Parts: sequence; structure tokens; C-alpha cells
Amino acid sequence: MLRAFFIYLSKARWAQNLITRLGFARRAARRFVAGETLEEAIAAVAALNREGIQATLDHLGENTTSTEDALRAGREVIELIEAINRSGVQANVSIKLSQLGLTLNYDLCRDLFIKILESARKSGNFVRVDMEDSSLTQKTIDLVLGASRSGFTNTGIVIQAYLRRSREDVRLLASNQIPVRLCKGAYKEPAHLAYEHMDEVNRSYDALAESLLAVGKRWKQRPEDPRWPAFAAYATHDDKRIAHIRRLAAALKAKPQWYEFQMLYGIRRDLQKDLAVSGYGVRVYVPYGTHWYPYFMRRLAERPANLWFFVKNFFRS
Ligand code: FDA
Repeated sequence: MLRAFFIYLSKARWAQNLITRLGFARRAARRFVAGETLEEAIAAVAALNREGIQATLDHLGENTTSTEDALRAGREVIELIEAINRSGVQANVSIKLSQLGLTLNYDLCRDLFIKILESARKSGNFVRVDMEDSSLTQKTIDLVLGASRSGFTNTGIVIQAYLRRSREDVRLLASNQIPVRLCKGAYKEPAHLAYEHMDEVNRSYDALAESLLAVGKRWKQRPEDPRWPAFAAYATHDDKRIAHIRRLAAALKAKPQWYEFQMLYGIRRDLQKDLAVSGYGVRVYVPYGTHWYPYFMRRLAERPANLWFFVKNFFRS
């Protein structure tokens, strides 16, 4: 109920206009967002790197509504790739295709995506395409698959365990050697497309995790570069899912380069550090920029307890 409400708020313009003007909301969002500028984001990554944790940087933005905004978003991602290169931090980038105009103009979005991949390839870096709501799943897969088949091996995708179609999608992506980040899924989806109960989502997550681990072994394109992810990237903070993956990995004698754990900036810092200290690959998703509102609302939707954190910031103002 609360989850659905926050996901509704994440898309409501009126709520965005209201909430982004509130100083305490900005302060609360800072728990999950590294800052509003590129410099702050690079500094946050450098601090993670010092703890043996890699990163993927996301310049926040989604559902772009004009060509100018899509072009600007494309330029900003390229600037980000160049800044990573200049600073020497260990990070790749994550992008959302709706930020590059996917809901506006498919061809424009594809051209911007390819330009970003070319820029990343020049500096030997990798681009992960986040997965958005189910209206964009097929288009996102088509664009990543198309790029990969035309020679861009420096890209990967996200699969959401809550979607009923994900088993088939994982099979297709694995047969095309496209690295996958596996998450549970953060949007509100209808029951005919997505599992509704958490135990079904968890079962799906565990099954997909197992099939991805075996493919990691055969992924040949990964250079010896900490900016690149492993084939299977397990994006979860769920202790049970992580324990399951650790057991699978131990049984398969999986090498660290076959898989890694990924978590969100500001969530389960204890777990991030523990896994890194124990020798597991850990990468943190570091979002930054001024368009923090929908991302922040999805984080509130995931965990009602975060609402108290939000309220506490109000009383501190
Ligand atoms: P679950 O929600 O069961 O949480 C397990 C535990 O983690 C909780 O008990 C709590 O301790 C902690 N936790 C989880 N969320 C929290 C929060 N918001 N605040 C505080 N604590 C929290 N989704 C998507 O649809 N498309 C995408 O591209 C991505 N990309 C992505 C990248 C990375 C690196 C991560 C980690 C996640 C995503 N997601 C995503 C989000 C994902 O789908 C999911 O919504 C969240 O990760 C929460 O699910 P968990 O697997 O952590 O489990």
C-alpha cells in the first residue's frame, strides 16, 4: 500500500514540484545521493575505492520530455566518462534509456546510446543500462542486444527478478554473452507481468542467480580492469539472497571474476564493507545530480522505515 503510494509519488509532477522545494527533503535525499555535482560524486567514489569497493556512477535523470534534454543528458554522460578517466577512480557508468529520450524518439535514443558506448570504449570503460518499468523492457533489451551484436562488448543490462518474463530474457542475454545485473525490481507492475508476493520474487531471484553464475565462467570479453563488472552482478541488500549466492559460489568453486555483489549508495554500508573485506567483489551504485526526486521516492517505497528518516529530517529543519 505504502509502496504503491511512493511509486505513484515518484511519477507525479505536482509532488515533485512540491517536495523538491523542501530543504529537509533535499537533506534526507542526501543519504542516498552522493551530491548534486560531478566533483562530489567522484569524491564519493574515491572514498569507496579506498575501502576496496568499486562503483558505478549514475547521473540522475529519467523520462526526458524534450529532444534538448535528451541531447544534454547524452553530453553529460560523456562528460562523466571523461571525468572518470581523468580522475583515475575505479568506476563505470549506469544510464537510463528514458533519460536519453527512449519514450520520445527511439532513433535519437539509439544514436545517443551508441555515442556513449563509443566514448566509453575509447577510455576502456563499461556502460550498464538500468531497467525501468515494463513498458520499456523490450525496447531496452533490443537496444542493448543491437549494440552488442554490432560489436560493443562494453555494455550490459539489468534484469528484474519480479518480472515473469525474466527467465527467458536471461537465457537470451546469456547466449549473447551480455553481462547482467540482477535485481528484484523497483517499479509497480501489474500481476500478469510480475510476481506480487515477495516469496515468489525471492524464489525467482535465487533461480536466476544460479543460472547466471554458471555463465560468468564462460564470459571471455572482460578485461582485467576493476572498472568492468563481472558477468553476473547481484544487486541486492537481502542477507538471504546473498547467503544463497555465497553457497552457490562455494559449491561451484566460482572465481571472484565470475560474479560480484552490487548495492546502493547509503544502504547497508556494514554489509558492503564486510563483503569487501572478506574478498568478494563489491560495487556500489553512486547516483548524483539535481534530478534526485524519482530515485529518492523509489528508495522510500522499498522500505517504509525510511519514512521515519524523512520525518526526522523535517524536525531537524
Ligand atoms: P529487499 O527490498 O528485500 O531489502 C533487503 C534489505 O535491504 C532490507 O531489509 C533493508 O535492510 C535493506 N534495504 C533495501 N532497500 C532499502 C532502502 N531503500 N532503504 C534502506 N534499506 C534498504 N531496480 C530496478 O527496477 N531497475 C534497476 O536498474 C535497478 N538497479 C539497481 C542497482 C543496484 C546496484 C541495486 C542494489 C538495486 C537496483 N535496483 C534496480 C533496485 C532493486 O530492484 C530493489 O528495489 C532494491 O535493491 C531493494 O531490494 P533488495 O534486493 O535490496 O531486497
